[in-house]
Amino acid sequence: MNQENFKTLFDLVVIGAGAAGMMCAATAGQRGKRVLLIDHATKLAEKIRISGGGRCNFTNLYASPQNFLSENPHFCKSALSRYTPQDFLSLVKRYKIAFHEKHKGQLFCDDSAEDIIRMLKSECDLGKVEWRMPCSVQSLTKAESGFQIQTDQGLVKSKNVVVATGGLSIPKIGATDFSFRIAKEFQLKVIEPRPALVPLTFDASSWEPFVPLSGISLEVDIDTGEKKNKAVFREDLLFTHRGLSGPAVLQISSFWQSGQVIRVNLLPEIDLAQDLIDAKSTTKKNLSNYLAAFLPARLVDGLLLAHGFDGALRIADMQDKRLRLLGEKLNRWELLPNGSEGYRKAEVTRGGVDTRELSQQNMMVKQVPGLYFIGEAVDVTGWLGGFNFQWAWASGAAAGASI
Ligand code: FDA
Repeated sequence: MNQENFKTLFDLVVIGAGAAGMMCAATAGQRGKRVLLIDHATKLAEKIRISGGGRCNFTNLYASPQNFLSENPHFCKSALSRYTPQDFLSLVKRYKIAFHEKHKGQLFCDDSAEDIIRMLKSECDLGKVEWRMPCSVQSLTKAESGFQIQTDQGLVKSKNVVVATGGLSIPKIGATDFSFRIAKEFQLKVIEPRPALVPLTFDASSWEPFVPLSGISLEVDIDTGEKKNKAVFREDLLFTHRGLSGPAVLQISSFWQSGQVIRVNLLPEIDLAQDLIDAKSTTKKNLSNYLAAFLPARLVDGLLLAHGFDGALRIADMQDKRLRLLGEKLNRWELLPNGSEGYRKAEVTRGGVDTRELSQQNMMVKQVPGLYFIGEAVDVTGWLGGFNFQWAWASGAAAGASI
């Protein structure tokens, strides 16, 4: 990549060549701005490459502000409405990238996430974006007109700087706290970052009865048990050795706070207590065999054991009180996670640069003209399902279009 022109003045330096950074650089470059993209990684856009199981769930057809978490839920509206899933889809179609809808509006590449990386790189090339990669940024300071960026390849000057270095998830592929450090250096508030879209764990002794269920997956309703502002998701749940995972748990993990229970309905279409009481007069089956019509047999046996029920008992011989208790356990199973798998496994970071510090039109820091934060670095976190990339594209395009 081009190593020339260190001391010349750029219109824009984007730090972080991930999803948001490349979108921003391409947008500004194609508007005739002189843009430099800096990234410390040796390989371009690793997070896009590994996303969506290697096929990149690049947007969601139904993305709307309700699909995002933030201390300031209105903030994302402007950028999302000006760069929509259809806008990104037009780009994907222009590059003839084959894609499909998996479900619930989630669009994936047919072949590989590499197609999206190549497309964004080509868009940057169209905008004559210059690159420093791998290149580490040592400091970012405000100068009289613009900014000075000290890198391990020399000093760079720019009228504008966009920080697009993402969140803390998956440090082994290059995630750092750079964006939060820079925000703090410029005295900006940062909403405490924490892992989100992440498997939840339980203490070893309370989870022991469920360890044999590891590998079982089923569709459930899941919520945080809160009465107000309750989020409920119907998605697949996966039992693991250390706890719970799968889309249902990843979704609820973004809402979950330490000390809070999560509530799982293993039979969302059935009022089990009522069904069991009604079945007393119509079935000769025992509990295990009866429940095996609704749930995998291994799960039934494991759950009955864990909750202290004898699967060999005939339903007809059981007291209504016991059947109600079993209904409660399976329809409203309350679990108290002791934590999560952390940034090692989290798909995103919740929290980040406080949106009240930024213009919702273009992501510029209100108190520091010319400095911008975009993408996951900002306190806007999407649900699972292509929403986080849509935020990366929309916030990147908003900043790139305003420079
Ligand atoms: P992103 O992380 O993409 O880019 C940040 C860039 O900054 C990186 O290139 C990094 O190397 C660079 N950087 C970091 N620190 C630096 C420093 N100090 N100096 C220089 N450069 C630095 N979302 C979705 O919508 N659909 C999906 O299918 C998936 N799937 C998925 C799977 C997995 C396993 C993960 C971990 C995440 C996802 N996501 C996802 C989330 C999505 O990948 C994420 O939200 C976006 O990539 C965020 O885009 P950003 O550009 O903000 O950060």
